[in-house]
Amino acid sequence: MSFKNNKEFIEIGDVVTLYINPNNMHQIEVKDKIVNKKGELVDNVFQTTYGALKVLSLVGIRYGSKVDLSRGWAYVLQPTPELWTLTLPHRTQIIYTPDISLIIYLLDLVPGSIVIETGTGSASLSHALIRTVRPNGHLHTFDFHEQRVVLAQEEFKNHGIDEFVTVKHRDVCTEGFGDELDDMVDAVFLDLPHPWLTIDFAIKSLKRKGGKLCSFSPCIEQVQRTCAKLSSMGFISIETYECLQRELTVQQKNLSVLNLAYLRDKTAENVTKFDEPSKLTTVSHPSSTPGHTGFITIAILPPECIDER
Ligand SMILES: C[S@@+](CC[C@H](N)C(=O)[O-])C[C@H]1O[C@@H](n2cnc3c(N)ncnc32)[C@H](O)[C@@H]1O
Repeated sequence: MSFKNNKEFIEIGDVVTLYINPNNMHQIEVKDKIVNKKGELVDNVFQTTYGALKVLSLVGIRYGSKVDLSRGWAYVLQPTPELWTLTLPHRTQIIYTPDISLIIYLLDLVPGSIVIETGTGSASLSHALIRTVRPNGHLHTFDFHEQRVVLAQEEFKNHGIDEFVTVKHRDVCTEGFGDELDDMVDAVFLDLPHPWLTIDFAIKSLKRKGGKLCSFSPCIEQVQRTCAKLSSMGFISIETYECLQRELTVQQKNLSVLNLAYLRDKTAENVTKFDEPSKLTTVSHPSSTPGHTGFITIAILPPECIDER
């Protein structure tokens, strides 16, 4: 239940983030017993690169505490959507936090928003969407892969956030989002191979006063087809962002700085062009940029267009 409210102490049933270092984190469900590979019920002992942790020993410990592993230590943190994205079991490609924050910002999501998301995939984005729209908003998430739907439903229940989300098993490209959502939603988010096939259905679901549609695609050809469809259906302010992450390295360097007195009067005696080299904090850019995560397209459906349906 640990995603629902801020908690002080760990209880049985919580999902806890075991933080060893930024590149070594795990999610652990706090329960007494687990089933091992042979199908036997055994004590829940979690193995890490720094040794074992008896999971039941976490009960009653304050979130944020340092705990001993058999060959080191870790911190126990209350999970957030960001920590979940870094540690979740991957069933598909997922959307990561830098892109998620742009998506939530572009869709104008706030507590109370009603949102459609498809496909659910590994529910990385879903967790962040739920946190944004709760307590009085709702997420309707769809996937045509049955097992992914079942697992996402189980996760939302285990995390105590199932009241804010409805998960449906459906091919949205052929069946749409269902009549029950007609004129109901503020925003539609698409992470699908063929997003343009869902746009007619999205228009039906968006509220009569208009709304926003956002689509994430790795390939520019998908973006072209989606934008052409959006434009033909009367969407406006269609914009596509390419998501590139560039890491800057901060370094101390000995640099000679231009002497401003020299610029003022180049003929003055004893004035050199550069000051003596001094240690300065600088940044350097990487020589190459790793590939992008994808393109994020955002579009607005204006109210007039809905009236013509
Ligand atoms: C890349 S994953 C989504 C990942 C998700 N955004 C996340 O952050 O975890 C794409 C999902 O779309 C689903 N999907 C593809 N086509 C679909 C369709 N026509 N209807 C419903 N789901 C579909 C796939 O089964 C897959 O789970």
